[in-house]
Amino acid sequence: MSDSNKSGLSEVTLAAGDKNVVLPVQHPTLGAPCIDIARLPKETGCFTYDPGFTATASCKSAITYIDGDAGVLLYRGYPIEQLAEKSSFLEVAYLLMNGELPTPAEFSAFEHEVTHHTMMHERLKNFFQGFQYDAHPMAMLAGTTASLSAFYHDTLDLEDPEQRRLAAIRLLAKMPTLAAAAYRYSIGWPIRFPRNNLDYVNRFLHMMFEVPSEPLEMNPVVAKALDLLFILHADHEQNASTSTVRLVGSTGANPYASVAAGITALWGPAHGGANEAVLKMLAEIGTPDKVDAAVARAKDKNDSFRLMGFGHRVYKNFDPRAKIIREMTHKVLGELGVNDPLLDVALKLEEAALKDDYFVQRKLYPNVDFYSGIIYKALKIPTEMFTVMFAIGRTAGWVAHWLEQQEDPENKIGRPRQIYTGSASRDYVDADKR
Ligand code: ACO
Repeated sequence: MSDSNKSGLSEVTLAAGDKNVVLPVQHPTLGAPCIDIARLPKETGCFTYDPGFTATASCKSAITYIDGDAGVLLYRGYPIEQLAEKSSFLEVAYLLMNGELPTPAEFSAFEHEVTHHTMMHERLKNFFQGFQYDAHPMAMLAGTTASLSAFYHDTLDLEDPEQRRLAAIRLLAKMPTLAAAAYRYSIGWPIRFPRNNLDYVNRFLHMMFEVPSEPLEMNPVVAKALDLLFILHADHEQNASTSTVRLVGSTGANPYASVAAGITALWGPAHGGANEAVLKMLAEIGTPDKVDAAVARAKDKNDSFRLMGFGHRVYKNFDPRAKIIREMTHKVLGELGVNDPLLDVALKLEEAALKDDYFVQRKLYPNVDFYSGIIYKALKIPTEMFTVMFAIGRTAGWVAHWLEQQEDPENKIGRPRQIYTGSASRDYVDADKR
């Protein structure tokens, strides 16, 4: 029996005027029970109001579990700490998409298939030429990902499980190719083909950094760190971008369009854009002696400044991914011999915030994005590419959720209600009378 079942709550009764409405309670394998309110409008004539969906489960999912109070994150039941230590990003992607860890033969077939879907169509390259040279790579990534639907008509029949699977593989395989192309276009370098003799992460690094004039020496420390970052970013249950993928997917839109929408949702500074914002903030703070002033600004309600990389909708404890990245940051910077003054600012900021009453009372801890920017910087990934890196990792989760949704018998078009606050009905006023 799960913890939630032990609570024994099987239904709740809501007193709505002179009527008692009995609502069933659904019990997850882990986590809090959910009151099923689907019958509420019919029984009471009322909707529920929950801005930001802070109290609302939008679907059933068997992919990822988070306990925000305990700082627990499980992919398909496996703790993130174990996957970070023992697995690889591609194996994690298989796990998220298929539900189980692969056997060596299954992994080898999966890796082969992903490797052989990494190329982009020659004509898709023309899309990049249409962008201004200083276009943000997230804009290029969203645009070119949506454009994939115009190239792969053979994977648009959503009734066919094989076409759905192939579309998911294509998205996973091509995302690094599009991401590297966006970067190279922005700096005026020729776009590189993916190399099949390299693994997923090294292939991406090669497409990013290889120059025609000299061979690129692959650095295993960099590849390992990036692989780990992709694992940590791979999924996070119904976060804003994944919910966006599901919302678009619920309309029957194709997976390329659905994932493109997820990319745009990820871009915002309150979500995946935070890693870029963290680095800009640390650079603005500049030196450790300015940290206290920044903390004071973040606490000032008349100032819109927030500490980027702090706080999380779900974690009211240390984000377990942040713990892993924190440790890795020191290791990677040490191994690469990087001495980054921004790390000193970050450590001072972390220390100051963790002992400040404002942050303690609101349970605002460093999140995954607080450290990831510093590592990306050490890996020589340019700042505008940070959110793109997040998108590459999160593609595994997006496609896993999209695949799950397509098989969900309860899947319906997402259509929230509202509390209307506009005018009551009134008559049109002719222009000369206004
Ligand atoms: N700095 C200062 N104060 C903060 C911060 C912050 N980073 N985050 C929250 N607070 C304060 C709020 O002002 C609010 O204070 P109040 O109760 O006095 O009004 C309280 O903490 C609760 O904040 P909410 O915004 O209601 O919390 P919510 O769960 O809606 O927001 C969010 C979570 C968006 C992540 C928020 O903490 C934030 O903006 N953080 C900075 C951006 C960031 O790092 N985003 C990355 C998230 S992780 C990810 O997407 C991978």
